[in-house]
Amino acid sequence: MCGIVGYIGPRNVKDVVVGGLAKLEYRGYDSAGVAALADGNIRIVKAVGRLSNLEEKLAEMPISGHVAIGHTRWATHGKPSDENAHPHQDCSGRFAIVHNGIVENYLSLREELMALGHEFRSETDTEVVAHLIEEMYNGDLFETMVAVGKRIRGAYALVVMAKDHPDEIVAIRRASPMIIGLGEKENFVASDIPAILEYTRDIYVMEDGEMAVLRRDGVECFTLDGEPVKKEVYHVTWDAVSAERGGYPHFMLKEIHEQPRAVRDTLRGRVSDDLSRVELPELGLEDEDIQAIDRIHIVACGTSWHAGLVGKAAIEAFARIPVNVEIASEYRYSDPIVTDNTLVITITQSGETADTLAAMREMKKRGVRVVAITNVVGSSAAREADSTIITWAGPEIAVASTKAYTTQLVALYLLAVRFGLSRGTLAEEKAREVLAALDDLPQVVEQVLDTAPQIESFAKRYKDAHDTFFIGRGIDYAVSLEGALKLKEISYIHAEAYAAGELKHGTLALITDGVPVIALAMQPELYEKTLSNIVEVKARGAFVLGLTWVGNEDLEKTVDEVIYLPKTMPLLAPVAAVIPLQLLAYYAAVARGNDVDKPRNLAKSVTVE
Ligand code: F6R
Repeated sequence: MCGIVGYIGPRNVKDVVVGGLAKLEYRGYDSAGVAALADGNIRIVKAVGRLSNLEEKLAEMPISGHVAIGHTRWATHGKPSDENAHPHQDCSGRFAIVHNGIVENYLSLREELMALGHEFRSETDTEVVAHLIEEMYNGDLFETMVAVGKRIRGAYALVVMAKDHPDEIVAIRRASPMIIGLGEKENFVASDIPAILEYTRDIYVMEDGEMAVLRRDGVECFTLDGEPVKKEVYHVTWDAVSAERGGYPHFMLKEIHEQPRAVRDTLRGRVSDDLSRVELPELGLEDEDIQAIDRIHIVACGTSWHAGLVGKAAIEAFARIPVNVEIASEYRYSDPIVTDNTLVITITQSGETADTLAAMREMKKRGVRVVAITNVVGSSAAREADSTIITWAGPEIAVASTKAYTTQLVALYLLAVRFGLSRGTLAEEKAREVLAALDDLPQVVEQVLDTAPQIESFAKRYKDAHDTFFIGRGIDYAVSLEGALKLKEISYIHAEAYAAGELKHGTLALITDGVPVIALAMQPELYEKTLSNIVEVKARGAFVLGLTWVGNEDLEKTVDEVIYLPKTMPLLAPVAAVIPLQLLAYYAAVARGNDVDKPRNLAKSVTVE
């Protein structure tokens, strides 16, 4: 969840570390800090709040040196405060440490260390590790860290520097992500690639259970037992510009507008030229394997879970395989019923969500085949799954997921068609129709983006609403869930999604004069039923914004305002319908003066359970 950067080399350490942290702020941002080693001493500067607070402090208390580590924090143990901000130190100030993740046995370690006379300054689990290092230090930092690694339990990425070792930084990875950037007479360590992309494109991806020693002139990698590991250099090809705002006021708006490209890239090379077949060799499944599948569990969190709900509809329609869509944090403890022929599909934009990874590992332990759909090449999900389908959305920086969701939908449609063709449940002619409709989606999305001014105007008028309801039937309901989440997440307006037919079983009591209701009517087969539910909310005084396909003017007779979206195959309509809802959340958040890209209490990558 937190962001880590470490550097050893000749550059100005403040620029490298603080610049890198700025690129990682999406991982968490309630406090930040840096430690640098100069003139034989470790100097630490930290500040609660945004990175800009730290920068202000650094202007007054500059740091220098050739070794430094830094951290942006998203609180887990201990409230956001200067004391709880990283880096943390031992009693003597000889070591400094930054950490991402959770040390599960920190309470017992803390008691043990207190009994030995250690005094603690913070409430964090991290500080315990600093004291443990001090206690176990044998004069060799690397050996000490091998020993310390054996004493701490949990999921973590740790980076340590020491006063007596001015020429090295030691990094340990157990579950939480970490990469190493390789330079000329300089090296970097970070929780994610954007932090170091300005300086190098050659990296080592640290595997779970690895550690590394960084020196100016080289990096050595080891197992947690200290056995040397040979690493492959991974050359990053995506450019830094694609991780920048590109002229938009916020990353979220940029990412919403990138969706035609993202959808196109995710389809590219995966549909045969004659639109008759899906090419997904990375799936590693033959027709016989697909025919043998007797059930599918889709496991994910948040927005990715919402994508899974649409995926269920597509897979069941085309491939006739029963699908359960499970929330990862519930699934892993629910003793799920699986057979030898169950397939688990995990969906995770970041590929690092702790609950999703844990569910995935549990299923792998039981011998179940796991396919991951993720946006991050080299992420834990991508590396640990039996096979991986990458969504080519490109880096998503805004905390609220947009282009990752639409590309997850595309990946799920492709899987559904592939499964349907392999099992003979989807006629070839129908498959061609679906693939042609998928091929048209980038243009459809372009056209939907033209509705932005209408949505902006609605958002400005309703920015002070206390409650909003999103209603729809079938997969319109799945999209409603995503619309409500997006609105809550960044505008902080309370929103609820309801299966339109369910509203009258209680929630209708909340519909009074002027309450905004966003009604999705994108499914012709369910249109009349949805319309009766819209009439029910209109009768209670709701202000209804309807979403429907171009040509369905009938809706105007019932609702207050209509947004027309290009007509597409109903099962694919979520890709179009979600975009006005993303824009609504965006413009409402802007109108309310919120920090759109970094909503309060949230982080981009949820690497704690
Ligand atoms: C909401 C959002 C989250 C994520 C969830 C899972 O906009 O982004 O709900 O979808 O935290 O994240 P991933 O997909 O990275 O596993």
